[in-house]
Amino acid sequence: MSATAVLGCAWGDEAKAKIVDVLAREHDMVIRFQGGNNAGHTIWLKGQKYVFHLVPAGILYPDKICALASGVVVDPFFLIEEIANLESMGIRFSNRFFIDPRVNLVLPLHRELDAKSEAVTGREAVGTTRKGIGPCYSDLVARVGIRLEDAFHENYLLRRLNDLYSHHNLEFTGQNELVRDLLAVAKKLKPFVKQVPYLIHSSSQKKILFEGAQGSLLDIYYGTYPFVTSSHTSAGGIFTGSGISPFLVDHIWGVFKSYYTRVGNGPFPTELRDRVGDRIRERGREYGSTTGRPRRCGWFDAVAARYTCMINGINEIALTLLDVLSGFPRIMICTKYKINGKLTEEFPSHVNDLQAAEAIYEELAGWQEEISGITDYQDLPGAARNYINFLEETLQIKIGIISVGPDRVQTIFRTGFK
Ligand code: GDP
Ligand code: IMO
Ligand code: MG
Repeated sequence: MSATAVLGCAWGDEAKAKIVDVLAREHDMVIRFQGGNNAGHTIWLKGQKYVFHLVPAGILYPDKICALASGVVVDPFFLIEEIANLESMGIRFSNRFFIDPRVNLVLPLHRELDAKSEAVTGREAVGTTRKGIGPCYSDLVARVGIRLEDAFHENYLLRRLNDLYSHHNLEFTGQNELVRDLLAVAKKLKPFVKQVPYLIHSSSQKKILFEGAQGSLLDIYYGTYPFVTSSHTSAGGIFTGSGISPFLVDHIWGVFKSYYTRVGNGPFPTELRDRVGDRIRERGREYGSTTGRPRRCGWFDAVAARYTCMINGINEIALTLLDVLSGFPRIMICTKYKINGKLTEEFPSHVNDLQAAEAIYEELAGWQEEISGITDYQDLPGAARNYINFLEETLQIKIGIISVGPDRVQTIFRTGFK
């Protein structure tokens, strides 16, 4: 068995799905290990757009096995709809899509709690996707969560729901509709249920691809806390979230956009609140795949990138949306921060220090040519190659894949495969 991972290394939306899509061909299984339907993973294939929220992006290949491992939180009503939508587009799920029985369920209560906590006056909102992700993970850790398999045992489910509601000081009686709906949705999901650790370890010949959601700067420990999501988005999440040994993952791809974006609140040292930022947003169509919110845009932040490569042990980088940078007279890369008058190359652990960080830039020449039709590295304009060399030099990691457009074919491979 061998396993590869694709991890977002910034604040999400790095075009992980596009990279999963190009790598999936060489793998047998694609597995999500954390997050929920806060994710929005877009793939363009032959002019058709697909946006995946819970279902792994590998499902587009008819012969791949796809799974949601125990670290994922699943809104069962949403998942049923997502499956139905994709089935109506001709995608087959039976016998190749699996859900671990341990996944915690995101309930309507979690969505309500998410909205409520975002609306607390006097507290700066996180800017969540309002899908109930934070409250669901909180209940999981508080040991009052509802797991998918609980819904296969009616009496046990009733007891657990009772406990959950009393944990939140809420009355459970009268929630008959919820119980009925949960039992019904669980019945529909039952054919897909399989213990993912056994699925993973069932054949030594399998090549597994782990599909990360969100990005390392949104990690519950290592991200820009408290402006983060509630799961382990960095490499450690793969092992706790899916039941595989760290020794079995042999290659970790870090996905970075050629610039940075962020949806939601929180510090963003290289943010461009000017026409350059607007131009990046328009060229990159930077509007959230899950919420439609405009994404905040800024230059590549190599201080943050060195940090996320370090905590994940990134072996190789996939650099995406390089085509968006065509037409800028100059391209900036942040290589240091100045915090309270002091220069540093260290990513600060406290949100206030990051908020105070002034980005110190290196300036490179831009290029004018459109590059979205290029598939050979040598055909890129010299200034674009120079930008890539600069990033490799500053991060000390090879950039093996360069994406120059949303489609599978708009990809430049610099590694051995094609
Ligand atoms: P993910 O959440 O990391 O999978 O990324 P999203 O799907 O949320 O956002 C990435 C967006 O960029 C999607 O709309 C993709 O179709 C698009 N995209 C992916 N790669 C490229 C690229 O190289 N160039 C351009 N212009 N768009 C891209
Ligand atoms: P993909 O997988 C970008 C952000 C939200 C908010 C914070 C917490 O498509 O990259 P949450 O709803 O998770 O409690 O919100 O995290 N966020 C994302 N930003 N891409 C995502 O997923 C995100 N999932 C959550 O905007 O700032
Ligand atoms: Mg996304």
